[in-house]
Amino acid sequence: MSKEINMNEMIIKKRDGNKLSKEEIEDIIGSYNEGVIPDYQMSAFLMAIYYMGLDKEETFELTKAILNSGEKIDLSEIEGIKIDKHSTGGVGDKTTLIATPIAAAAGVPIAKMSGRGLGFTGGTVDKLSSIQGFKIELTSEEFINQVNNIGISIISQSGDITPADKKLYALRDVTGTVDSMSLIASSIMSKKLASGSDGIILDVKCGKGAFFKKEDDAIKASEMMIDIGESAGKKVAVVISSMDQPLGRAVGNTLEVMEALDVLKGVGDSDITEISLELAGIMIYMSGIADDLSEGREIASDVLYSGKALNKLRELVKAQGGNSQIIDDYSIFGIARYSRSIEAEDIGYISLLDAETIGKASQLSGAGRAHKEDEIDFQSGIIIYKKLGEQVAEGDKVIEIFSNDEDKLNKAFEIAKNSFKITKEKVSVSSVIKKTIGV
Ligand code: URA
Repeated sequence: MSKEINMNEMIIKKRDGNKLSKEEIEDIIGSYNEGVIPDYQMSAFLMAIYYMGLDKEETFELTKAILNSGEKIDLSEIEGIKIDKHSTGGVGDKTTLIATPIAAAAGVPIAKMSGRGLGFTGGTVDKLSSIQGFKIELTSEEFINQVNNIGISIISQSGDITPADKKLYALRDVTGTVDSMSLIASSIMSKKLASGSDGIILDVKCGKGAFFKKEDDAIKASEMMIDIGESAGKKVAVVISSMDQPLGRAVGNTLEVMEALDVLKGVGDSDITEISLELAGIMIYMSGIADDLSEGREIASDVLYSGKALNKLRELVKAQGGNSQIIDDYSIFGIARYSRSIEAEDIGYISLLDAETIGKASQLSGAGRAHKEDEIDFQSGIIIYKKLGEQVAEGDKVIEIFSNDEDKLNKAFEIAKNSFKITKEKVSVSSVIKKTIGV
């Protein structure tokens, strides 16, 4: 039970730009989590933070208070230096399905808990659930044994991790207080610190389809998260990557699994391959397998192109009861009943491929959830045939939408029509990786 707190005083203290003590932050979060502080006072407090900010110490104390609101995962029975991965979320982001088997094949123990997705597509566990038979729920004993036996397990988040974050996030979402750097950094890092790993690699997206629209904001938030990690004694590294256009060519659950398999077979697109290798290279370095980052990158590349990473994914699928034949025969996934494509009306170059619009269309097709209880249609989503900077002739297919529901397909089609632009001039496309920080 948290100490009784005068919340009105705390709101005024932060509103006037004063620093809160460790005890005050602990009491506020503890009392809110216990239901003692009402939402209307917490909303005012969050808005005061939004305007006045929190300094480094306050942000760290907030992270710890959120972390201590729930269970912490104990991975101490797993040998080796465990590295967790987190992405701030993007359209077509299937890097976990690629980077973690690469890192695991190189010897990094991967004990990963992932959430279900809310938004453009499912999360990693939804994508894995689209593989026939794949069990996303294991007991903690099975989870730990599997990592000790084959080096990798990915399951859905169990237990009551950071319940205060769930309450705070739901409130921030409806009170205009989501995009505060300290609130974002503490929300992400509290969950990552609860996951029990020794190091964390963060893939922070920036651009039109991302949480951070500006690179400067992505950098600021990343630096805060690195500071929080260091204060908690964990290694944290960040890759800042572009989300101006979707990552790779597939958006949707089975569609993304197939694309991830292509990357693991060495025949993926360059953007998704490049970022997956960078993330895996950093994980390999952070876990002490490589002496420096360039060796980490080399090992990641060897493991990918030798087929060892694909074999690791095969082992993962088999170990968790999935049908591993899908790796060699994508037809087992089946395809959606309906599809519609959008063609180029002119000759030229793709000058805009709006990740956010494609994401919304994908969600409408059935690939993502608007509410957490929504069912996902695994086969629905979008395939992109022409990406930013690529040349098109009149009549070329640019994108194709898939769904098992004709009505949803048509709604997605109406949105997707406005997702790209064609210009006569050539368009230059910058690298997907903008910056690596913390290594
Ligand atoms: N992701 C999170 O988990 N929390 C935030 O506040 C923002 C993005």
